[in-house]
Amino acid sequence: MGYTKAVWSYLLGCRVLLGRVDAQNQPQQLCGKDDARVQGNYTFNSNAWNQDESGWTCLYPSRDNTSNAFIAEWRWQSSPPRVHAYPHIQLNSDVLPVSIANLSQLDLSLEWAMKPSSLIEGLSDDPTTSPNADALDAIGIEANVVMDLFCDADANRSRTPAKQRYEIMVWLGRFGRASEPIGMDQARVTPIVQTVGNAEFTLYAGTNGNGQTVFSWVTTAPLTQFYGDVTPLVHFLPRYGFMPWDTYLGTVQFGSETFYAAENVKFYVKSFHADVKSPAEGASPVDTSVEELPVQTSVGGGAAALEVASGLWTYLSVGTGYFVAMLLMGGLSVL
Ligand SMILES: *[C@@H]1O[C@H](CO)[C@@H](O)[C@H](O)[C@H]1NC(C)=O
Ligand SMILES: *[C@@H]1O[C@H](CO)[C@@H](O)[C@H](O)[C@H]1NC(C)=O
Ligand SMILES: *[C@@H]1O[C@H](CO)[C@@H](O)[C@H](O)[C@H]1NC(C)=O
Ligand SMILES: *[C@@H]1O[C@H](CO)[C@@H](O)[C@H](O)[C@H]1NC(C)=O
Repeated sequence: MGYTKAVWSYLLGCRVLLGRVDAQNQPQQLCGKDDARVQGNYTFNSNAWNQDESGWTCLYPSRDNTSNAFIAEWRWQSSPPRVHAYPHIQLNSDVLPVSIANLSQLDLSLEWAMKPSSLIEGLSDDPTTSPNADALDAIGIEANVVMDLFCDADANRSRTPAKQRYEIMVWLGRFGRASEPIGMDQARVTPIVQTVGNAEFTLYAGTNGNGQTVFSWVTTAPLTQFYGDVTPLVHFLPRYGFMPWDTYLGTVQFGSETFYAAENVKFYVKSFHADVKSPAEGASPVDTSVEELPVQTSVGGGAAALEVASGLWTYLSVGTGYFVAMLLMGGLSVL
């Protein structure tokens, strides 16, 4: 119980001081393979889908339903490093599943931190600051911090874990080399970059072990705070033929894929809010046009640059197995 209390002293500090920690305020510990707790419009899940004897993970949700904060503490030591768990928070919304053609807004507001559990109390837990960054390096941490959106042509399947046709990941942090975005090893000569909120994201694409097509929008440096509408990252894909507009977004999650650490790590989500919207009644519908990828030009005003250069990028099969986009030697062919 000792370490649990230590973990919670961070979030419950005020209540501890006020002597208001009662049974009601104690966090439930989610330490199993698929332990979940629903709180308001969100579900916390330990999601240790690939756990093994090399380590452990526990997710401690806060009872504070205004911040939706949680802490995931973990350590995995199997070699070579591989993903063991994705402790996360999921949005439950009446609007989901929503066809991407009917998605007008996906607002996020979140803040996170990560540090070795042993980092001296009082030092910053921001992984971009010293000495925490070096402390994380020193324990060989391999992990990421990602938003995970799952989509499928079938509304129900868009909510069924591992069954969805598409996974759209938004990477806000990447530590070590093990957690590499799928397709990064076949990156385009000139990348596709979109600016959303306070960040630039680069697109990678490929297929995962489940046969799901994975699109990853990746920041270059860890982004511990994000406030913005990521709809442009979603709409980009049907706009340029990478998936049909009538694909349903069914699952919205945020967490950390944990691979390896020599010592215990704490991943803090200090706040998380997501809001999915369809166009209000009477408002103009989503523009569902399909365009060719611009070649060496800009889209979306000055903020978003999109370039295509020569070289083979990726083949993406859509729907029942026909190739929709093939990018070869400087051009886009639609088959
Ligand atoms: C938090 O929980 C309380 C008590 O159940 C409820 O009245 C309140 O609406 C909730 N607030 C949020 C933001 O979910
Ligand atoms: C929860 O979601 C419902 C609709 O999906 C919304 O009406 C309600 O305001 C949300 N509650 C909070 C506390 O945000
Ligand atoms: C769009 O979403 C709204 C709200 O969820 C829903 O009422 C409406 O039927 C949807 N329209 C289409 C065309 O799917
Ligand atoms: C989704 O699944 C539910 C429950 O299994 C079923 O009642 C519903 O008809 C399904 N909807 C679609 C669109 O397949």
